[in-house]
Amino acid sequence: MSRLVVISNRVPVPTPGVPPAGGLAVALSGAMEARGGLWFGWSGAKLPPGESEPSEPKITTADGVTYAVIDLSERDLDEYYAGFSNRMLWPLFHYRMELTEFTRISLSGYHRVNRLFAQRLAPMLKPDDVIWVHDYHLIPMAAELRAMGFRNRMGFFLHIPFPPPDVLTALPNHADVVRSLAAYDVVGFQTPSDVENFETYVRRERVGRRLPDGRFVAHGRAVTVEAFPVGIETDAFAAVAAASNRNALVRRVRDSLGDRKLIIGVDRLDYSKGIAQRIQAYETFLLLDPEWRGRCVYLQITPKSREEVPEYAAMEREVAELAGRVNGAYSELDWTPLRYVNRTVGRNALAGLYRQAAVGVVTPLRDGMNLVAKEYVAAQDPENPGALLLSRFAGAAAELDGALMTNPYDVDGTAGALARALDMSVEERRERWSAMFERIRDYDVTWWRETFLEALERDDEAPPSTG
Ligand code: G6P
Repeated sequence: MSRLVVISNRVPVPTPGVPPAGGLAVALSGAMEARGGLWFGWSGAKLPPGESEPSEPKITTADGVTYAVIDLSERDLDEYYAGFSNRMLWPLFHYRMELTEFTRISLSGYHRVNRLFAQRLAPMLKPDDVIWVHDYHLIPMAAELRAMGFRNRMGFFLHIPFPPPDVLTALPNHADVVRSLAAYDVVGFQTPSDVENFETYVRRERVGRRLPDGRFVAHGRAVTVEAFPVGIETDAFAAVAAASNRNALVRRVRDSLGDRKLIIGVDRLDYSKGIAQRIQAYETFLLLDPEWRGRCVYLQITPKSREEVPEYAAMEREVAELAGRVNGAYSELDWTPLRYVNRTVGRNALAGLYRQAAVGVVTPLRDGMNLVAKEYVAAQDPENPGALLLSRFAGAAAELDGALMTNPYDVDGTAGALARALDMSVEERRERWSAMFERIRDYDVTWWRETFLEALERDDEAPPSTG
């Protein structure tokens, strides 16, 4: 079997006591440990001020995986990470054109860092390595490597949504982005509707067409473009949750609840997650269903994220203010309706908290997949599972049809759905849960990794000419 080389911006080099945050890190950590290989990317650290040349990659090995990471300069991080990746591609791909900021400087920083990654990785590559690039930070990576003469099989997986052409074409360099995707052999999206958006773009912009074998020819290259919905380690996560009685933190939270029902939300502090709308929905629920006051607690675990990006700082204030307002209005001397916590919680405790919770609320305004939804399902007690409230705009909604679907823009509707979830009979909860559990068991993270790599390692025939 050829060696697997994974490239991603963030590389969660295992650090004792620090859980990986974000869907990509969670999904890939397990996948890499199962297959072994090399994982290359940014260390998460900044070069000292004044230094602009990254050092040689720092190499560490753990559990069969070699991690090679480089530090980035302040300027590179500003332009490539906080700039083009997170002020242009992230909001745009989450359908938030009004939050984007495009500058030629950040775009050139984006390309510069992609080239730098390719140059630092190049000496470590072998001709038969299979290369798997992840996420929006690194779309041009295959084009960079190919320009350096590498002919390896190269795949790309986009963890976030791929927007429809009317949105994508607001990106001044959209044509280059799609051209860069065509430099891969396989492009993986989260859902069939992402693939549809790609197909519509290619047709409308007249840059290619679908071949009878299902692949696309775009910019003269044949590329497999398919949906590979990312999963979790379902059985392992379920086992951790089932054993969570032993976790001291989980026990403390349970004791603090008494017989109140727990509602749980877990998200990075990101505007795509709909946290403000969710807190408003909870506020409306408390207003309209006074019988639940004092009988439930909503725990929202929200580690801060991308604080260097101004739009994140703004929403941090907005959410903190809302949380304060709800607690100010509804708290009793012996009851706080909302526990709003800005820190990460380790995987074991999280699994136990999900299992405790009568309702999991996953209501993003737009999300590539959302693994919290899947983890919540995996963690439930089959005899007495909780109910999942899920946004129709999460990629996971295409798979988890046993969830109570909500439209997060409809605050009153979400408030009603919350009441319905809390009141749901155990029979209905069991029925909805089993369908979801079966799905995430069949399509777990191993399925995702193997199906993607199978497609990538399949040696397709040379592409027919575009004519
Ligand atoms: C999402 C993205 C990942 C990213 C993660 C955390 O899951 O798809 O690529 O790593 O968020 O964000 P951060 O900016 O901290 O890496």
